[in-house]
Amino acid sequence: MKLGALLLLMMATFVQAQSDFTKVTKKPFGKMPDGTPVEIYTLKSGKIEARIMTYGGILQALQAPGRNGRDADIVLGFDSLDQYVKTENSAYFGAIIGRFANRIAHAKFTLDGKTYTLPVNDGPNSLHGGLKGFDKVVWKAKEIKDGVELTHVSKDGDQGYPGTLRVAVRYTLQGNELRIEYAAATDKDTVLNLTNHSYFNLAGQGTGTILPEELKINASYYTPTDATQIPTGEIAPVADTPFDFRKLTVIGARIGENNQQLHFARGYDDNWALDNQNGKLAEAAEVYDPATGRVLTVFTTESGIQFYTGNFLDGTLTGKGGHVYKKHYGLTLETQHYPDSPNHSNFPTTELKPGQRFHSITVLRFSTR
Ligand code: GLA
Repeated sequence: MKLGALLLLMMATFVQAQSDFTKVTKKPFGKMPDGTPVEIYTLKSGKIEARIMTYGGILQALQAPGRNGRDADIVLGFDSLDQYVKTENSAYFGAIIGRFANRIAHAKFTLDGKTYTLPVNDGPNSLHGGLKGFDKVVWKAKEIKDGVELTHVSKDGDQGYPGTLRVAVRYTLQGNELRIEYAAATDKDTVLNLTNHSYFNLAGQGTGTILPEELKINASYYTPTDATQIPTGEIAPVADTPFDFRKLTVIGARIGENNQQLHFARGYDDNWALDNQNGKLAEAAEVYDPATGRVLTVFTTESGIQFYTGNFLDGTLTGKGGHVYKKHYGLTLETQHYPDSPNHSNFPTTELKPGQRFHSITVLRFSTR
């Protein structure tokens, strides 16, 4: 190779490497009603940009290019902190959910022979950690390589849960992958189920329903629920049901079928028991938008994933850029342990004991095809 060509190649490699670097910046994002300041961190790598705020650890925006190179914000949410804080039932847009993602039946569980009572906030059940879960606290934050680390100390008895729980959530962006890493430790036996509750719409937030998008979930089983969306305890095969997403399938293709589970939830809102149960990071799901070519691939160490089609969105929430969020305008893929695990001894355990360290990883990869 001629020297000139070699130099050009070296320069091109350098420019490529530069654009793969993640730039992290921080800005104020308003104040809580009590004056506590909230910050928003922007993580930028190439054409992917993620914005994470300290309130609720919320992924507020995610810019990703489509196959034509055009960017869009592909997560639902609000433009201002005030809207997140003041909107009653803000649908948990983009938030970290804890101490316990999804439902606990009758807001009660028994651990070491003692019964704990939680706030009731979803029919007869406790949902997403109670009245003031991790989605509604201001996390401490510090910049780390490629991202931000959020930490929170939940006091013994917080929302009815035992033990002082120290939690850290790290969001990092490497190339086209947003990695969410959760760690926690307790000083008393407790239960724990952490997730992120982002609503995706790969065509762009607020542009329409997710029904034409295609989904694959690497799960042969799911956990059917009763009418209040509490798992019956059965781990049922997806084969020959509208819950079989083992091959990429249009989300809207079977959502209207006469199926009891789909009736209970007014769409999809169930936990799939992932085929990968060994705690190692593995592909769990993929969403593909044929219109824009965007692909979201989800990898997780978790054993379950809650796929929810935004069935409770009903046009009452106006989100970013004045977009009105109607039914099915977003989908969630909440990587987690199974709902109501403390009340089902056949489900993978959600118990955490002093001396143990909870650790889980979810990676969201954004690409096109
Ligand atoms: C989860 C639940 C849904 C709903 C949303 C939040 O996905 O499974 O039933 O509560 O959170 O609106």
